[in-house]
Amino acid sequence: MQLSRFGEKFTAKSGILELMDDLGKAMAGSEKKYMLGGGNPAHIPEMNAVWRRRMDEILANGDEFERMVANYDTPQGKASFVVALAALFRAEFGWDVGPENIAITNGSQTGFFLLLNLLAGESAVGRRKIVFPLLPEYIGYADQGLDSRDFVALKPRIEQIDTHTHKYHIAFDTLDKLLATDPAIGAICVSRPTNPSGNVLTDAELARLDATARAAGIPLIVDNAYGTPFPDIIFSDVTPIFNDNTVVSMSLSKIGLPGTRTGIIVAPEPIARAVSAANAIVSLANGSIGQVMVEPLLRSGELLRLSRDVVRPFYLERSIRAQDVVRTSFGDDIPYSLHRCEGSLFLWLWFKELPITTKQLYERLKDQNVIVVPGEYFFFGTDESWEHRDRCIRLNYAHDPADVGRGIEIIAHEVRKVYSSDGSGDT
Ligand SMILES: Cc1ncc(COP(=O)(O)O)c(C=O)c1O
Repeated sequence: MQLSRFGEKFTAKSGILELMDDLGKAMAGSEKKYMLGGGNPAHIPEMNAVWRRRMDEILANGDEFERMVANYDTPQGKASFVVALAALFRAEFGWDVGPENIAITNGSQTGFFLLLNLLAGESAVGRRKIVFPLLPEYIGYADQGLDSRDFVALKPRIEQIDTHTHKYHIAFDTLDKLLATDPAIGAICVSRPTNPSGNVLTDAELARLDATARAAGIPLIVDNAYGTPFPDIIFSDVTPIFNDNTVVSMSLSKIGLPGTRTGIIVAPEPIARAVSAANAIVSLANGSIGQVMVEPLLRSGELLRLSRDVVRPFYLERSIRAQDVVRTSFGDDIPYSLHRCEGSLFLWLWFKELPITTKQLYERLKDQNVIVVPGEYFFFGTDESWEHRDRCIRLNYAHDPADVGRGIEIIAHEVRKVYSSDGSGDT
């Protein structure tokens, strides 16, 4: 079989594919595993009860079930769902959006594949690229470009808040220099809150990115998968933005419906239309189930109330608990630093001057039945070597607190062994 360039690019053994295979193998077997690795949201009992109630309502409501499963949706999304979303964004944030600004996709991952490739690659004015101005950044973007030259990413400035806490900031001087010297940059993209670090760009940083993008005549894409108004897994008090130069991506996944694959792109009309047009070619239509389940909750305000009163407090509590275990298990003798957890499902740990890479640490932890994600995968789009990329791990703090706690204790034990040895293994 002779694969096309597309075939070669999308079947190449990407780091993440390898890791997922490895995780799958690690999961097999009968021993207890501490799964701090994936990005699955928690099963929140109150939310699962709402989904069950909505299914009961749909089944009891005349032929609503048959209309949901036996009809093709339109490529833009279910018209009444899109109208309800636009009304919510107008009421909640005062955004100037109508249905024409919204495109639904089968998950925001698919939305990003379309969006990033609509804006990057060969064009009538030459090659276009996307810049990710703040590494580490979401692993799921890394291999989405049709050409590996499509993405550029920049190292952050690190603010050390105290001995064991840091926060990443955009190095605006580097970004400004890149934009001034590389006319091929076609869009700026950030996740806010950020997967993997739990960072939330400040309002001042977002305003500056907005101004920078506008001055360069390119759109700013903000991935709001964890942000407000739903799922609202965001612990710092910041304001989302949307204007005629911004694309905001949202999702029903982290509110508890990842299985329905419902992504939402809010964008200037030409971009929203382009995403829907590409979606028609790639997907024909979107899955309807998430849209039908959630639409009345958008209209009644229940989804916002649940996000604020159930989802956000649930994750905040779990995040604080996990951070407490980190502090007590790591103590003061290990030179670790936790990224300030301002949102998302993750804790991001940096082990300064660890004698081994975190990929090697990942292997050692796997032998102890603890699964984490080594940080290197989140540093794509640059060839610059940087020790930091091999000294961080991502933990999902959202699952059973006893398991998360035990997993962190095992990590602390293993890391302490590594620091007290030369890194070669035995202590
Ligand atoms: C930052 C971010 N964006 C997008 C996605 C994709 O989510 P989905 O395709 O489920 O909407 C994820 C999933 O983990 C994510 O963390």
